[in-house]
Amino acid sequence: MKGTSRIMIIAIDGPSGAGKSTVAKLVSKKLGFEYIDTGAMYRALAYKACKNNVEINEKNSEKLVNNTNIDYFNNSIYLDGDNVDNYIRDENISKAASKISALENVRIKMVTLQRNIAKNKSVILDGRDIGTHVFPNANYKFFITASVEERAKRRYNQLKSENFNVDYDNILADIFKRDENDTNREISPLRIADDAIIIDTTDMKIEDVVNYIINFIGGNTCYIK
Ligand code: DC
Repeated sequence: MKGTSRIMIIAIDGPSGAGKSTVAKLVSKKLGFEYIDTGAMYRALAYKACKNNVEINEKNSEKLVNNTNIDYFNNSIYLDGDNVDNYIRDENISKAASKISALENVRIKMVTLQRNIAKNKSVILDGRDIGTHVFPNANYKFFITASVEERAKRRYNQLKSENFNVDYDNILADIFKRDENDTNREISPLRIADDAIIIDTTDMKIEDVVNYIINFIGGNTCYIK
């Protein structure tokens, strides 16, 4: 394990729909660490752009990020002071978030925010660039993935259970597209950190993934919470 401080940073990266946030939330509960859903931060900004009919491009992004306040605490995302948990999960926002997260101004602002939120405490963060860019010295890095079909199936079941009107083929196509955007963008693309532990969850249950991570970290849990 890296580092000697009593603060522990756990990075969980991976593609859309791999179950990162479910796993990260459960691990955070078991360890008593704070959880930060960095995707929710990009989603919140995308939601604001969509709500205000702001076209998502580099030119508009400077004003947008400078006039926006985003915070994440107690497992909730706040946009300009309002809890927007219930507005950021639909497929339009997923597409807009993928687009907005490729913009330089946006990434600079989000990474700064993420580092500030995580200051002086043990945290578990999930995203795309946590282990490669936001916290390259994280104590533990996991890359959670699954086949694209399995990820589409999970997203479909999740959205259906939340009463969204969804079509599996559209979700599959969206996940392909998002993988392509997230992997091929110029700034901080999705990639596996050299020192990350890869977990392919295609045939794994959530609790098995959580137990694997907890066992991997072992007894190193006497950290500042
Ligand atoms: O994890 P998610 O699906 O909620 O993320 C929404 C979008 O934000 C996704 O297209 C990838 C992007 N994202 C990112 O670029 N970097 C992160 N650290 C987290 C998410």
